[in-house]
Amino acid sequence: MCLLMRRWCPLRRRAQQSGARARAQAWVTLGAWVAMVLMVLAVQLASARPDDCALPLDPHGPSFNGLEGERCITWAAVEAAWAAGREKAGLRRPLKEAEGSGGPPLARALLGTALQEATRLLSERYGLSREEVRELLPRVDTRRTRVRDFCPAALASDQPCAVARFRRYDGRCNNLRHPTWGSAGAPFRRMAPPEYADGVSAPRASRAGFPLPNPRAVSAHVHRDGEHHESAVTLMFVAWGQLVDHDITLTAETKDPETRTDPECCGPGTERRHPNCLPVLIPPGDAFYRRHGQTCMNVLRSLAGAREDCRLGPRAQFNQMTSFIDAGFLYGSSEAEARRLRAGRGGRLQMQDAFGPLGLKELLPFKRDFPDEGCLRADRRRGPLCFLAGDNRANEQLVLTALHTALAREHNRLAEGLAHVNPHWGDERIFQVGHYFS
Ligand code: HEM
Repeated sequence: MCLLMRRWCPLRRRAQQSGARARAQAWVTLGAWVAMVLMVLAVQLASARPDDCALPLDPHGPSFNGLEGERCITWAAVEAAWAAGREKAGLRRPLKEAEGSGGPPLARALLGTALQEATRLLSERYGLSREEVRELLPRVDTRRTRVRDFCPAALASDQPCAVARFRRYDGRCNNLRHPTWGSAGAPFRRMAPPEYADGVSAPRASRAGFPLPNPRAVSAHVHRDGEHHESAVTLMFVAWGQLVDHDITLTAETKDPETRTDPECCGPGTERRHPNCLPVLIPPGDAFYRRHGQTCMNVLRSLAGAREDCRLGPRAQFNQMTSFIDAGFLYGSSEAEARRLRAGRGGRLQMQDAFGPLGLKELLPFKRDFPDEGCLRADRRRGPLCFLAGDNRANEQLVLTALHTALAREHNRLAEGLAHVNPHWGDERIFQVGHYFS
């Protein structure tokens, strides 16, 4: 056509160009609309409206005791239960980053107790069955509520994992798909469902709701001292087993926040006892304790913990160590603990050279900050101190302490070797490579 009618060609080209521009504009407008609609949808999804359903319930299930017409737990009900649970537990501020993983577990226990109490309130209000508390309540996405403000990054399933040369002490991001799995402070996974008497936290009772038999009576009967002595293995076998156990589990214990010793549960004055007290009364005539005049065992429940993303559900227990075999008993399970144990030079762990002048090797340093934590001293004021290690149970028995000492010496031997062949390396690099080798 252009060849035949040359003078029309520029007009046609212009028409083609403006058609293409109009098409492009239409696409841009359509794109903008789609983006806007998606944004509105995302905002709608992210900001839950109070009356919306957080958890639909089975309308024919046991949860409708007198609550005709309520077919779900609303977001408003979850927020109200969380506010009340927080108040009851005394959780006043969000956890700091360092409180979320390894280290002293008290702050995490407050969070765990607040979630447990929120669970209890919802369970009572909706008359939930044990199964519903256990299976359904954890499905409420608490990230869409104010719980999120209190939930530490260490428990967030969607936390990003930075690219790092060395692994973290708290075990986070060892599993890149599930960064919290196995980390210090994470809850234990259960092999069997919990059987709390009230479905939330009360110690187990019989099926008919009666108290279970006295635990000391059961253990004294079932685990009688048969005076059988095992001779197939040495004591080192036993201590190594204990050390490996102490690498992978330490159920967070209830301790006095001032002294980090066990609160008293057996003495008089039950009303002032710690709420986690669960003393075991020793039956009269007990073959062992009768000889020592002891009538009560000072037993405390472990601390309540929080689930991944701080979800609701029955009382959970949590691990203070990482569940990886990573020599946490030697290096600690948090950055702060590791810093406390390091010498700060030559990539070494702190040791003491008390017996150096006698030609003897170094020992672990003394535990001075909380001297009675994990340590029984005859004289609390003047008695000798216990040893400091990455795990508070290092002084639990002598062979275990010896293993701790031998492995700390081994780290320092490696550090010296690494420093010798890499004179340009600083403290950090030597320490981390030694940690990695261990
Ligand atoms: C003289 C030797 C030992 C003593 C005095 C001792 C003492 C203790 C004590 C007091 C607890 C805490 C119990 C509680 O409060 O519920 C405990 C927990 C434990 N012990 Fe031992 N123990 C010894 C040896 C061992 C050995 C040889 C092993 C394994 C081979 C072992 C494995 C464990 C485990 C897995 C726990 C639970 C850890 C946790 O998650 O907190 N213990 N032990």
